[in-house]
Amino acid sequence: MKLPSLYSGSSLLMASLVIQLITVVVVASGGGSSTTTTSSTAAAPKKYNAMFTFGDSMDETGNICVASSNKTELNVLTCTHPPYGETYFGRPSCRWCDGRVVVDFVAQALGLPLLPPSKAKGKDFRRGVNMAITGGTAMNFTFYRSLGIENPVWNHGSLDTQIQWFKDLLPSICGTEQSCKGYMRKSLFMFGAYGGNDYNVQLLERGLTPEQAMNYTPKIVGAIADGVEKLIALGAVHVVVPGIFPTGCLPIFLSLLGDGDGDGDLDDAGCLKAYNLLSKYHNWMLRKQVEALQRRHHNSTRLMYADYYGLVYQMVQEPHKFGFSAPFEACCGAGGGKYNFDLSARCGMDGATVACRHPSARLSWDGIHPTEAANKVIAGALLRGPYCTPPILS
Ligand SMILES: *[C@@H]1O[C@H](CO)[C@@H](O)[C@H](O)[C@H]1NC(C)=O
Ligand SMILES: *[C@@H]1O[C@H](CO)[C@@H](O)[C@H](O)[C@H]1NC(C)=O
Ligand SMILES: *[C@@H]1O[C@H](CO)[C@@H](O)[C@H](O)[C@H]1NC(C)=O
Repeated sequence: MKLPSLYSGSSLLMASLVIQLITVVVVASGGGSSTTTTSSTAAAPKKYNAMFTFGDSMDETGNICVASSNKTELNVLTCTHPPYGETYFGRPSCRWCDGRVVVDFVAQALGLPLLPPSKAKGKDFRRGVNMAITGGTAMNFTFYRSLGIENPVWNHGSLDTQIQWFKDLLPSICGTEQSCKGYMRKSLFMFGAYGGNDYNVQLLERGLTPEQAMNYTPKIVGAIADGVEKLIALGAVHVVVPGIFPTGCLPIFLSLLGDGDGDGDLDDAGCLKAYNLLSKYHNWMLRKQVEALQRRHHNSTRLMYADYYGLVYQMVQEPHKFGFSAPFEACCGAGGGKYNFDLSARCGMDGATVACRHPSARLSWDGIHPTEAANKVIAGALLRGPYCTPPILS
């Protein structure tokens, strides 16, 4: 997920606040960690050549800071301000976290270097490169512009654009098309999570209800599935495809939409029911698509569906099992209250430059993105399971 244009679009945001959360018809039962993905004949290699990753601010490792020449925007995108980066890098590293993001942990576990952002100049990309960028969406900006969305934050690199960046880099990574096929076969791909921002646009910018936003789910999931097909056509064999987080458990949504509507809108764990239902619906449909793709390419491809929803929901329900407390409270920010989230006092803004005392005991870093500690848990689940079907290291 990524921060919306909440910065500038506060009137629209306000409009969305007053929208009654409606009772959403139960459309999906996804979200569990049970496994149904067909096992394939392609076994995990002991060592991967490289790792190629795609996505949004969850896995941003620096692209936005190279890509955006808009100083106002970079100032609004506070990942360049302290205390971002304080835990691992000791300074802001253009990551939306106090330390490493999920792709960093996975790369390190596989004996690979931290992945350079694809827009970095003069870097060696042969052991991996990260295309993820803040604002990344599954649908392209032409599509959003046709819906009246103008905010440039959604125009930095949609899924198709990121695949094009990757294609442009291929000759420098592995040479000819033929030698690249062999190289790709022994590389790990992480495709997303995509979708978080596509729903942010619908919910926060356009002010749709979660139920209305569901109308876009087939398109969004279809774009992700098409993207996976494109990677397979390039020679990708090992591809992790994550679903989205339980949106209704994030401090940003809870603080914006959770109060004043009555407790009936919250589930037993304390998350917004209607928003989680949207996330579950997306994940259920995505998982079906991943399974269909796995069947279609069963000879050659090993697709891994990552159940981020199930894992993060477990962290919210039983935080102590992971060494966490206060799962609904942002560690960094000056919002105060139950969620410690306020759009005008977000992490990194003036007055919000000191994080909570123990980020390693927290799930949410800035109310939108997880802490390094939570990212480490997520990476562990991707590598060894559960919540990744099959796990990367199986
Ligand atoms: C620069 O960023 C700001 C904040 O996101 C935005 O309002 C503005 O339109 C951007 N300017 C350009 C030229 O894209
Ligand atoms: C953008 O997405 C739309 C809808 O998915 C598609 O029809 C169109 O060709 C895409 N445009 C570009 C420039 O990629
Ligand atoms: C998959 O393998 C089977 C037998 O091993 C073969 O008959 C089939 O043509 C293959 N399919 C593809 C798409 O390569």
